[in-house]
Amino acid sequence: MAEKYYITTPIYYPSDNLHIGHAYCSTAADTMARFKKMEGYDTFFLTGTDEHGQKIERKAAAKGVTPQAYVDEIVKGIKELWALMDVEYDDFIRTSDERHVKAVQKIFRKLYDQGDIYKGSYEGWYCTPCESFFTELQLKDGCCPDCGRPVEKTCEEAYFFKLNKYQDWLIDYIENHPDFIQPASRKNEMINNFLKPGLQDLCVSRTSIKWGVPVDFDPKHTVYVWLDALTNYINALGYMSDDDSLYRKFWPADLHLVGKEIIRFHTIIWPIILHALGLPLPKQVFGHGWLVLDGMKMSKSLGNVVDPVVLCNRYSSDAIRYFLMREMPFGSDGQFSYEALLNRINADLANDLGNLVSRTVAMVEKYFDGVVPAHGEWQENDRFLIALAESTPAKAKKHMDELQISLSLQDIWQLIGECNRYIDLNTPWVLIKSEEGKERLKTVMYALCECIRIVAVLIAPTMPRTPARIFEQLGLTDDNLKTWDSLKEFGMLPAGIKVKKGEALFPRIDIQKELADIVPTPKVEAPKAEAPKKTAKPEEPAGEGIITIDDFAKVQLRVARIVTAEKVEGSDKLLKFTVKLGASDPQRTVVSGIAKFYTPEEMVDKQVVLVSNLKPAKLRGIKSEGMILCASDEADKVLKLVTVEPGMEDGAAIR
Ligand code: MSP
Repeated sequence: MAEKYYITTPIYYPSDNLHIGHAYCSTAADTMARFKKMEGYDTFFLTGTDEHGQKIERKAAAKGVTPQAYVDEIVKGIKELWALMDVEYDDFIRTSDERHVKAVQKIFRKLYDQGDIYKGSYEGWYCTPCESFFTELQLKDGCCPDCGRPVEKTCEEAYFFKLNKYQDWLIDYIENHPDFIQPASRKNEMINNFLKPGLQDLCVSRTSIKWGVPVDFDPKHTVYVWLDALTNYINALGYMSDDDSLYRKFWPADLHLVGKEIIRFHTIIWPIILHALGLPLPKQVFGHGWLVLDGMKMSKSLGNVVDPVVLCNRYSSDAIRYFLMREMPFGSDGQFSYEALLNRINADLANDLGNLVSRTVAMVEKYFDGVVPAHGEWQENDRFLIALAESTPAKAKKHMDELQISLSLQDIWQLIGECNRYIDLNTPWVLIKSEEGKERLKTVMYALCECIRIVAVLIAPTMPRTPARIFEQLGLTDDNLKTWDSLKEFGMLPAGIKVKKGEALFPRIDIQKELADIVPTPKVEAPKAEAPKKTAKPEEPAGEGIITIDDFAKVQLRVARIVTAEKVEGSDKLLKFTVKLGASDPQRTVVSGIAKFYTPEEMVDKQVVLVSNLKPAKLRGIKSEGMILCASDEADKVLKLVTVEPGMEDGAAIR
């Protein structure tokens, strides 16, 4: 029997149109689900919408419609977006579904009956955008510590969930299950910042919010939205319903994929709810980074959202999916820019992949009347390509299993690059000129067609539409040769099939023209209080060597703390550091040429100034993500670190 794989995205707030950042999470989950399915797993992919709470209640009221009517409309749009992006879920749960509402009520009652939920009264602060409670002490400058927005004083009768009772158990569980929270840096953050300081019992009902699941034995209360929302992962499978067969088959989840800002709910509240219910925990919660635009998380209130519908309609959903999966190192934040997107499309899709397919097919047509020839004896330079084609599936799989989708795509593109080099190395246009050369060319063309078949299979999870277009050009109809299993051996492609030149897979884009066309994108405005003061009108020419404040704003400078430091082997100039930019960012590696001036030991724990949005570069094979700023004299004889006065928190922006 096939092994099962259960993967979920968070359920989305249907408060606004979803942006490309939301699409990132769903695309990643869909790509993983497709990959597992291709490998033969019995997969279940769940997504949905988180519809209750004050935020929705207020938005609906402002529009003069009922909350249900308000969310129905938005959910329709979300489903259309997933269809457009080929996000192929097995179930879409809405927290307003009756099946969900009933299950939440049963869960609440069970926890109450067994004494894990009790009645009390709540006095504290509530952040409506985050749907989170805070004590006076937790507030930051009187505002929400998570999003910085104003909070509201709340005082009402409420039910509480005994989080505190399970705190030690959870610490122990997390310590003993190192894979449970990934990446590992997030695990330390949960333990040190939330669990060790102590958990307070959680307020799990509201009397002032009507748009929610009523507590069935005390209906003036509605269930706290996070308790309501988190249980979607088991409710969708029919937990506590008349038919819980899916629950029995698929729970525990193999992976909850969530953004880093909500990992806390998924690794503290959710495990405790499950444990209190006597249920096993999900095998892994992975907290991915954010897709940021000009250094800021996309959000409607910042006016910097990018619409995935526009992008998919303009460049194809496969191109957008590829970009999202390739550009973001999993676990870290990734930058969105139109330039990066268009460059990726041109370089990776139009040039590397598109050209490989089109020129191979064109050569088979030109030199062999369109019929894929049988290969002759393999030679040395074929063997290298064949070995790579044979090893790529395993490499790509390893990276997929580690959720490093971007590295897995890199593996596939290495094969594509090698194919293109193989063409240049073998010069078919010269080979065709002699009889002996033509014989050799048969082998070369066969190897290329077979590699293209392998590539088409491998890219399918990320780019579900492109493989069919490639197979069509190859003239490959046998579905058995389009599977993961068919990659086990090189040489499965039957000779004698007839290729057929088609349209370019990804037409080249004139980037400058396109940028001029599309970039009247929503202009990013920093939050008012933080906006840098403009000294010159943007339209004024800056003058030679002078930059505008907008140019400067592109450079993100942040306070970074050195966590580890070591010498780079074989170099007397370079030091390799791990640096942290604050609790919510994963640590990153930075290589810096300061070894002649500072020892690793004296660097540890220093605060430095980091250019944090510099394009990563490889130095001596080490990927460096940022640049540490130093001052130096003309002759580079004296070098001193740029630093900040004590008392500044790690990650603080420098502007
Ligand atoms: N409703 C809650 C989740 C409840 S799960 C039981 C929620 N919804 S959300 O719509 O605000 O966010 C859904 C997901 O989208 C989150 O994982 C969030 O991190 C992700 N993203 C939202 N903006 C994003 C980016 N800019 N980049 C990447 N992911 C982002 O939270």
